[in-house]
Amino acid sequence: MSYKVIFFDAKEYDIESFKNAEAFNEFDIKFFETRLSPDTVDLCSGYDAVCVFVNDEINKEVIDKLQDFGIKLLALRCAGYNNVDVKYAEGRICVVRVPAYSPYAVAEHAMAMLLTSVRRIHKAYIRTRDFNFSLNNLTGFDLHGKTAGVVGTGKIGRIFADICKGFGMKVIAYDKLPNESSGLEYVSLEELFAKSDIISFHCPLTDETFRMVNEKSIETMKKGVVLINTSRGPLIDSEALLEGIKTRKVGAACLDVYDEESDFFYHDFSNHIVSDDTLARLISMPNVIVTSHQAFLTKEALANISETTLKNI
Ligand code: NAI
Repeated sequence: MSYKVIFFDAKEYDIESFKNAEAFNEFDIKFFETRLSPDTVDLCSGYDAVCVFVNDEINKEVIDKLQDFGIKLLALRCAGYNNVDVKYAEGRICVVRVPAYSPYAVAEHAMAMLLTSVRRIHKAYIRTRDFNFSLNNLTGFDLHGKTAGVVGTGKIGRIFADICKGFGMKVIAYDKLPNESSGLEYVSLEELFAKSDIISFHCPLTDETFRMVNEKSIETMKKGVVLINTSRGPLIDSEALLEGIKTRKVGAACLDVYDEESDFFYHDFSNHIVSDDTLARLISMPNVIVTSHQAFLTKEALANISETTLKNI
């Protein structure tokens, strides 16, 4: 009898990459579009393992139910695990994840957003499609010679730092556990905030990093600072960011993640009235770019995610 896996939050590209994985036929996988949450956990009855992504909600209640159903394995097909109560899971259910599938995908997306923002490509693209070839208000700035502050110098942060160096930028870094062999110049978080023209976040979401960008920390940053968040939404207090943009303290924001993203990201709301005023206002700003947690989405990353997840299972 083959091992039964229930797969939540399945998108077309997930299904395709898992079906292409070598080990796919060794398992009996059932794909569900819905997310795992206390409301949907009953679907897990009769399975051996559960496969989830970034916005599934695995809290105490869900873990208790999974245990009741005799499920021993929770396989995250992502790197971050802030959506799982891992402390509670200990001794109850085994949790595995994909710690590295393509750090290049995320670091390159961060740079893509930065370039789009500072060279106004998002605006130019829309103009030229309408045969508007005016250059007014499209003035950008050189990245060369600017200071990039990298918060979190693990796999992704270090690649982003290398990319910035390739552009001739000065890179300074902050990490709770500095990696002295990285050759990076480490400074305190306060110094990084005060000196950086561009700040990119590559640390996990923890109690310490929750809202590390807030009203007070924004005050300490350079005027015109560009903030890039490809880490997790709650690192940034969205209201404070909005205020920083309105007062022109923050020059631009590139957000691949958002505080309340699970209510919106990965779904089509183009025919709806979006109920989150902060998100709507941020998106309305000419200097804010939002992508919907897309930084991981490359062919290479999807292939690594499916291969590693099936190996983990
Ligand atoms: P990693 O584990 O290799 O590196 C994280 C680094 O953050 C480590 O060096 C760690 O010491 C540091 N760190 C931990 N606590 C910190 C703190 N309080 N202050 C500063 N630094 C701290 O992780 P990796 O692979 O580089 O990923 C980073 C984050 O990127 C993940 O935690 C995840 O949230 C996010 N991510 C986002 C994706 C997307 O599609 N947008 C895809 C993959 C990851």
